[in-house]
Amino acid sequence: LWAWHIIFWALFLLVTLVQEPVRTESSLQKPKVMIAIVARNAAHSLPHYLGCIERLDYPKDRIAIWAATDHNMDNTTAMLREWLKKGQGVYHYVEWRPMEEPKLYTDEWGPKHWPPSRFGHVMKLRQAALKAARERWADYILFVDSDNLLTNPQALNLLMAENLTVVAPMLESRSLYSNFWCGMTPQGYYKRTPDYQPIREWKRLGCFPVPMVHSTFLIDLQREASKDLAFYPPHPDYSWAFDDIMVFAFSARQAGVQMYVCNREHYGFLPVPLKAQQNVDDESESFIHTITEALIDHDIEPSEFLHVLPSLPNKIGFDEIFLINLKRRLDRRTRILKSMSAIGLHPTLVEAVDGKALNSSQLKALGIEMMPGYKDPYSGRVLTRGEIGCFLSHHSIWKQVLDRGLQKVLVLEDDVRFEPRFRRRLQAVMDDIDITQLDWDLIYIGRKRMQVQQPEQSVEGINNLVVADYSYWTLGYALSQQGARKLLSAQPFTRMLPVDEFLPVMFNKHPNVEYMSQFEPRDLKAFSAEPLLIYPTHYTGEPGYISDTETSTIWDDESVATDWDRQHAKKTAQQGQTPAPAARASRDEL
Ligand SMILES: *[C@@H]1O[C@H](CO)[C@@H](O)[C@H](O)[C@H]1NC(C)=O
Ligand SMILES: *[C@@H]1O[C@H](CO)[C@@H](O)[C@H](O)[C@H]1NC(C)=O
Ligand SMILES: *[C@@H]1O[C@H](CO)[C@@H](O)[C@H](O)[C@H]1NC(C)=O
Repeated sequence: LWAWHIIFWALFLLVTLVQEPVRTESSLQKPKVMIAIVARNAAHSLPHYLGCIERLDYPKDRIAIWAATDHNMDNTTAMLREWLKKGQGVYHYVEWRPMEEPKLYTDEWGPKHWPPSRFGHVMKLRQAALKAARERWADYILFVDSDNLLTNPQALNLLMAENLTVVAPMLESRSLYSNFWCGMTPQGYYKRTPDYQPIREWKRLGCFPVPMVHSTFLIDLQREASKDLAFYPPHPDYSWAFDDIMVFAFSARQAGVQMYVCNREHYGFLPVPLKAQQNVDDESESFIHTITEALIDHDIEPSEFLHVLPSLPNKIGFDEIFLINLKRRLDRRTRILKSMSAIGLHPTLVEAVDGKALNSSQLKALGIEMMPGYKDPYSGRVLTRGEIGCFLSHHSIWKQVLDRGLQKVLVLEDDVRFEPRFRRRLQAVMDDIDITQLDWDLIYIGRKRMQVQQPEQSVEGINNLVVADYSYWTLGYALSQQGARKLLSAQPFTRMLPVDEFLPVMFNKHPNVEYMSQFEPRDLKAFSAEPLLIYPTHYTGEPGYISDTETSTIWDDESVATDWDRQHAKKTAQQGQTPAPAARASRDEL
C-alpha cells in the first residue's frame, strides 16, 4: 500500500510540475469617467435629471461626480448635497463645490438673461471640472446640463464606442431645437443650414462633424489634442462674443479637434430654451413638459437618492378629471399617471369598457342598436367592438356627472400628450369662461378638425376659444352638467354611432343629414380650445401606435378580426403628422 502511495504522489507531482494550468486573461475595466454637473435653480429638474444619471448602465465605481452649484434662489443646494451624500458610497468619489451666497448676479434680469458676470462664472466652473478630471486622470469627462435627460441607459457606452474626441448625443425636444449646430457665422453665431433638419429628424443617421455641440457631450481626455480644450480663459485669438459654448467651440477649432453629433440612437431629451421675457416658472413648466415628452416612449423615474415632497396635484377647478383607461393597457396607465403627476393633475380613473370582451347578447341587453346605415366614411365598415366600448366608457362618465351632480368635469383618454404649459393655458380659458359667463356644454381640448377650409368663429372676450365645427376624436374635453344632460337625453344607444361622430351631430355640425335627422334637438353648445392643448401620443403608422378602438373586431361578427390601420390612417392623419409644436426655432433664433 505504501508503495502505491509513493508512486501516486510522484506521478501527481510530475503532472503538476509539467502542466501549470493556463488561466485566461480577465477583461479590462471600463474607462474612468467624470460626470460634471453644474446646476443652478434646478430644483424642478434635479430629481429626474439625477435619476437618469443613476440609471446609466456603467459601473458606478468607475464614475466620479464633480458637482457645482451657485446663485440659487431655490432648494438646489440642499437637494444636490443630499444626493451627493448618498452617492459618495457608490461612486468612485464625489467632489462638491457649493456656493450659498449671493443668490443672484447683481446685473441679471431673469433666467434668460446672461450678463458677462454669469457667462464668466459658468466658464470658470466648467474649466474647474475639466481641470479636476485631468488631475484625477479621468479618461473621459461627460458634461450634462442639469435639465438634460439622458433617458437611454446606454448613452455613455454608446458615446464611448464612437471613439471621438468631442462627441454629443443628439437630444430631442418637442421642436427642432437640439444640442448642436450645423452652421456657424464668421462671428461664431448660429447659422441655419439645410443639413440641420435631416439630421435632427433622423433622416440621415450617423455621427456628423459639426461646428458646435453643447449642453451634453463627452470629451475623450486620453486624446493628445484634448489637452488644449478649454472653457476659460478664452483663447488669445478669441474675438467672438463672451459665451461659454462659443468659447469652447473656438478652443476645439484651435486645438484641431472636430466636434461630432450622433443620432444613431435616441439618447435623451432637453427643454426648448426660454424666450427673452420668460421667468423661472416658465423654466420649470418647460422642464415639466420635457418630462411628459420623455415619458411617452421611456419609463423615467426620479432619483432614488432624493426624497422630494411631491407637489400636491389638484383638479384645477373641475369637479373631477376623469381618465379613461382600459384595464389591460397598464403601459398607458402608468405613463399617463406619471405625466399627470408631473403636471400636477389629480385624475380619477375610469375603467374603460373593453369592447373586445363584449358579446352580442350583452349588447342586446344594453339596448344597443346601430345607427341604420352607419358606415365608416373611410373604410365603409360598421362599428367595431372597440368603438362601442369607447362609447360606453364616455357614456358612463356622462351618467356619473348627472348622478353625482357634478358641475363641470374634464374627460381625458389615456393616449394623449400634453402641450407645454397645459395647466396654465387650460386654467386661463376656464377663467375667461367664468368671467364672461359663457353658456357652454362641451369644450374640446384635443380633436381633429374635419372642416379645415373654413375658419372657426372665435368667442368674444375669451382668448384661445372657438365655436367648434365638425370634429373627430374624444381625446379630451371639458363637459358641463348641462352638456351631460343633453347627451344622455338624446338616448344614443338606440342608434349608435362612434362617439366622435355622435358629438358633432349633437352640436348640429355633422355633414351627414341622415344621421342628424335621427336626433332632436341638436343644441349642444360646443367649443374648442385653439390652439389645442393635447394631441395623440402616436399617430397612425408611427412606431408605438396601437388603436384600441378601430383595430378591434366588428361588433356583430366575432370571427372577423379587422385591421383598419390603413383606413384609420386616413381618418387620423389628414391634418398632417406633425403635432403642431409650440416653437420651432433653434437656440439663437429665439
Ligand atoms: C430641500 O431639499 C432637501 C433635500 O432634498 C429636503 O430635505 C428639504 O425638505 C427641501 N426643502 C424644501 C423647502 O423643499
Ligand atoms: C480609436 O481611434 C484611434 C485613432 O484615432 C485608433 O488608433 C483606435 O484603434 C480606435 N479604437 C477603436 C476601438 O476603434
Ligand atoms: C356574454 O357574456 C356574458 C358575460 O361575460 C356571459 O354571461 C354570456 O354567457 C355571454 N353570452 C354569449 C352568447 O357568449
